[in-house]
Amino acid sequence: MGVAYALKHFPVQESAQESLLMSELLGSLSHALDMTEGQPKGHCIRVCWIGFKIGESLGLPSQSLWELYYTLLLKDLGCSSNAARISQLYATDDLSFKRDYKLVDDQLHQVMHFVVKHTGAGEDLVSRCSKVLNVFSHGEQWAQDLMLTRCERGAEIARQLRLPENVAQGIRGLDEHWNGRGKPYGLAGEAIPLYSRIALLAQVADVFFIGFGQERAEQEINKRAGKWFDPQLVSHFNKVARQADFWRYLASPALPRYVIAMEPAKHRVPLTESYIDDIALAFGQVVDAKSPYTSGHCERVSFYAEQLANTLGLSHASAQLVRRGALLHDVGKLGVSNAILDKPGKLTDDEYEAIKLHARYTGEILSRIGPMQELAQVCQAHHERLDGFGYPHGLCDAEISLETRIITTADIFDAITAERPYRGAIPVPQALEMMREHLGTQIDQTCFAALEDLVERGLMT
Ligand SMILES: [Fe+2]
Ligand SMILES: [Fe+2]
Repeated sequence: MGVAYALKHFPVQESAQESLLMSELLGSLSHALDMTEGQPKGHCIRVCWIGFKIGESLGLPSQSLWELYYTLLLKDLGCSSNAARISQLYATDDLSFKRDYKLVDDQLHQVMHFVVKHTGAGEDLVSRCSKVLNVFSHGEQWAQDLMLTRCERGAEIARQLRLPENVAQGIRGLDEHWNGRGKPYGLAGEAIPLYSRIALLAQVADVFFIGFGQERAEQEINKRAGKWFDPQLVSHFNKVARQADFWRYLASPALPRYVIAMEPAKHRVPLTESYIDDIALAFGQVVDAKSPYTSGHCERVSFYAEQLANTLGLSHASAQLVRRGALLHDVGKLGVSNAILDKPGKLTDDEYEAIKLHARYTGEILSRIGPMQELAQVCQAHHERLDGFGYPHGLCDAEISLETRIITTADIFDAITAERPYRGAIPVPQALEMMREHLGTQIDQTCFAALEDLVERGLMT
């Protein structure tokens, strides 16, 4: 078709990836994992700082420090895979569930308090009591299954990110405890990978530091020595915690910069175009795994959007921006509770507002990647409308780039044609008919014409 298109689009720099470090890209994307875990911004970055300092204190060689660095930064890669199940089993908001779960240790009264607080939150008393009893009957098995899903999926995504097997194994063993009472494999002592042992300790240190301050963090780590944590690592943590600048840096707003620069330079991996694509694909899959309603969505939108970009004659760099943008457009959904994302009935106004936040979150996450600002703008705008009634900024017509219009068209096409748990797939001719009603207000006419052309040529399946 090769439609000549007069609209402005982003002046993409072909060499953008040359100035981008893997630590900056993955460090920025780790904020999406923080959101999924209901953690305050920068959790994975702080865990990376704490754990890396322990690794240095242990005298690990630089290759091991490099592997430890990415284990710490990406320890929560599997976090989205059990969010929907948590929300369903415990009838609760998965974000606050995951956040508060990290404060619970093995003591029975803490576990019981946690279960009672979170199960069936917002439901009437009878329903809550019945759900709490159900948790007490099946909770142990549920927790085991939830951890298994999270650990295996996290390791799998690490492999997709081309990280060494040691990193995958470090992520896989994150929830094992020194005394063998962790999950899901019940590993004990040195059978637990070293990176996992360090990551768990660093995770607990950060959660208590952010929630209650330095003193409480140190107490909690020492209290769990020999139970959750390797006592030798606790000694190294204590040594690191006595260093003058350790806590000051941990609390500094400049910490992300320090952590990005901390990656052992000798082992840096160059970010080729195809590697960045693989990273975008992996994070797109983390997003898709969050909800049964969005399974495969980002990958399909990316496929459709790239076909549209090629049909419209976009340059290689702009088509690449579209492809990656489509993979990452919904990354902000990781910050929205499954209690809302997967709600079967009509959403309340407040719930709809919470869903709408995902576009803003997408912009926040991606704008952290210094050399990829245009990607953040393209993705953040995917729910803007030509008539100005979209979100998050209510942009109008000419303010919306061609790259965004393409992603929006592909996004809507997939939302209609994909099979959902509650309905079958809507046939393509009917989907096109439905989209036609929104031409010029929500959907760009030229992008739609390109879509029809691709459908006619049988290229949209
Ligand atoms: Fe979206
Ligand atoms: Fe979407």
